[in-house]
This record gives sequence, C-alpha cells and structure tokens, in this order.
Amino acid sequence: MTVIGTGYLGATHAICMAALGYEVMGVDTDSDKIVKLAGGEVPFFEPGLPELLAKALDSGRLRFSTSFEEAAAFGDVHFVCVGTPQLEGSHAADMQYVDAAFEELALHIDRRALLVGKSTVPVGTASRLAGRVRSIAPAGPLAEVAWCPEFLREGFAVEDTMRPERLVFGVESAWAEDMLRRSFDPVITPDMPVVVTDMATAELVKVAANSFLATKISYINAMAQVCEAAGADVQDLATAVGLDSRIGKRFLRPGLGFGGGCLPKDIRAFTHRAEELGVGHAVAFLREVDAINMSLRHRTVDLVQEIAGGSVAGLKIAALGIAFKPDSDDIRDAPALEVIDQLRQLGADVRVYDPVAMDNARAVRPELTYCDSALGAARDADVVILLTEWAAFREIEPAMMGRVVRQRRIIDGRHALDSARWRAADWRYKALGRPA
Ligand code: UDX
Repeated sequence: MTVIGTGYLGATHAICMAALGYEVMGVDTDSDKIVKLAGGEVPFFEPGLPELLAKALDSGRLRFSTSFEEAAAFGDVHFVCVGTPQLEGSHAADMQYVDAAFEELALHIDRRALLVGKSTVPVGTASRLAGRVRSIAPAGPLAEVAWCPEFLREGFAVEDTMRPERLVFGVESAWAEDMLRRSFDPVITPDMPVVVTDMATAELVKVAANSFLATKISYINAMAQVCEAAGADVQDLATAVGLDSRIGKRFLRPGLGFGGGCLPKDIRAFTHRAEELGVGHAVAFLREVDAINMSLRHRTVDLVQEIAGGSVAGLKIAALGIAFKPDSDDIRDAPALEVIDQLRQLGADVRVYDPVAMDNARAVRPELTYCDSALGAARDADVVILLTEWAAFREIEPAMMGRVVRQRRIIDGRHALDSARWRAADWRYKALGRPA
C-alpha cells in the first residue's frame, strides 16, 4: 500500500501499517519531510511514533518517495492523507491538496487499484473524485475510489490507529470493501465494528462526529458561563451531568475550548457545505458552537484582568502551555496563542513555556519571551495562567511555585488543577464557572 501525504495522519498511518506487516510506501511532495522520515526522524511530536518508525524501517517494509509514478507502480491500495485546511478568507475547506493528490496519482494508475481518501472533506468530494479518477487514469474504471475517514486524536495517534473504536468504509463495490478489509486485517478484531456504507455517508460520519464533539465542549463552556453568573460550580455540574450514561463524561471538560487542526475548521467547512446543499439552517447551531468557543479566549483574558485587579498593563504573566492540547506540539488554532497575544496587546509582559511546542511557536511568534521551564516562566510573575493541561503542569508543587512568583494568583484555563491544593498553599485560584 502507499500513503500519500505524511503529516500527522499520513505518517502515523504509514508507520503503523508497516509495523503491522504491510509493505508500505509513504509519499509526500515535501522532500524535507521524506528525507527526515526515511532517516528515522518523525517531523512532529507524537508519543510512541519515533520508536515505531525505527522498527518499521528496520523491518525493511517501509520506504519513502516523492514520486507519484513510483507510488502508482508500487501500490494496490493508496491511502490519501493530505490536509484540508480552512480556505483563506472563507469557511470552506481548501481542496487543492486532495484534488492534486488524486489527480497526480490517477495519471499513473495503469492497473486495478483502490484509491482511498482518508482526509476530512466536504460531502460529495469522493464521488466527484471517483469520476475524475476513472476518466484520467490509464486503467480507466479499474481505478476505483473509496472513502475511509480517520478518527485519530493527536497524542493518541498510534493507539487510535492500531486499536480504533470503529472503522468506516465508504465503498462503491464489493471489491473495494474486500480490499479495505484486507488492508485493515490485523486491526479488525471480532469486537471492533466495521460500518460499511456509501461514500457520501462515510464522508459525513467524520464531520458529524467532530461537530458532535465540538458541540459537547461548547455546551459545557456555555454552562460554565451560566455557573459563573450564578455562583455555581461547573466542575460539579459536569460530573453530575456526565454520570448520566446517555450523556457520558467525556468531552465535558470546561475551559479554554477546542483548537487544533481539526475541530475548528471542520465545523466551519461543514456549515459551508450544508449551506451549499441548501440545508444550512439544519446546522446553523454550529455557528453558535464556534462563537461560544472563540469567546472563551477573550473570557479567559478577562479572568486574568479580574484577578489582577483590573488591568494587566506592566504586569508579568507566566503562560504555561502553548500547544492546542497536551502531548502534541501542534499550535494550529491554539487557544493559548490567542490568549497570549491578547494579554500582550493589553500591555502585559508575558513569559511562556511549553514542554514541546516552543519550536513551532517560535516560527510564528519569534517576539515572545520563551522560558526553559514552568518555574522559569513563573519567576516574579504577578499572575500564572494555565493554558494547556500538560501532565507536568498538573504535578507542579504549588508551594514551590509560590516561592518564585511575586503574587500567588493563578488562572486555571483548563480546569486541570486541584484547586484545593493551590488554595491550601495560599494561592488565589480561579477557573471560569467555579466559585472564587
Ligand atoms: C479531534 C477528534 O477527536 C478526532 O477524532 C479527529 O480525528 C480529529 O479531531 P484532536 O484534534 O487530536 O482530535 O483533539 P481532541 O482530543 O479531540 O481535542 C480537541 C480540542 O478540544 C482540544 O483543544 C482540547 O483541549 C479540547 N477539549 C477536549 C476540551 O476543551 N474539552 C474536552 O472535554 C475535550
């Protein structure tokens, strides 16, 4: 098999598939990435992946290339894993990379092969591409398209690829289903459901799932604002509500909200696509989900101002965390960066620290003051603010950090800290929707 596109999704897929025993070729137009991967270096942070890459390369089953011609000659099944970022100046998905990957590949397909899309795309894309592939591939109708959405979470990418909760196959023929089953044979266990459906449904499953998760997060954050106004405690509320098995406790953690390369752009692209289909009203609530989420960044800055007594101008603020979530170096649409930007605009002197995302942050925000530890960032701080819930931050000893700061004031932007511990060490602790 080949894997076209070696970003977070594609590199993980290629490495895991080779580790599972398949002959795999990873393909990317970015030769830097290919050189790194072929040399055993994963170009991003993902726990467990570097070790697995080393094993896969040692096995001889994993190779890399920048040539679509080589890919077409090599593979029977081709997984397209390129990105669909938000289009500049629009809510739509930018389809240029997916379109180009299918076209370039199809031009060289001269025997029966399955081209499987894994990227998150607007519904209707798979069927459009299937027609295009048939018409330009030398193999004609023997070049088939299928859609197999990917649900992996950054930070758990290996686990999610090796042991997914479900697989979804969007196919147009029994042959395509058979090829997909064979491509995931070691992953498919007796208790792992495979949903076989048409391609449009498969495309929609992904955006529907991400929309639901985003809605759950914005829902609890809406409750946090009500709790804040009513003097109630959103953490107890989330616990009690989540104990209803119909609701479930996951994705009910309040705080700064969702960011990253998926949830924000996926709900926007979904809304855009639904409007194109004439059913924009059906998903109009997703605009509110997005608006609630974006407002939390500003609301968190308000909390910092409130705890600082009104203004942050001239104050030293320690910002702990930059990545959009822990166990990732991904800073795409990271809420932390926006909070840091806003605080700096208000005149604060912000010192930042993140265990792995600082290199990526330096590339886009060279002007920030980067520190080499959480305690370093907190030195002489007037307010400490937790922006990404890295395990190492949860383990900070409040008394120890208390000795280096100027003022013991902390905003828990991720509802991740044990408020009782911090208060016991004489800190003023505040999180949105929790009593002061
Ligand atoms: C998400 C989907 O979970 C995954 O299935 C899909 O394939 C890609 O998008 P990911 O972006 O890696 O994965 O992160 P996820 O763990 O879903 O978290 C998304 C964001 O929501 C993060 O910013 C996280 O901090 C936030 N979040 C999550 C909350 O604010 N509260 C929660 O309770 C859970």
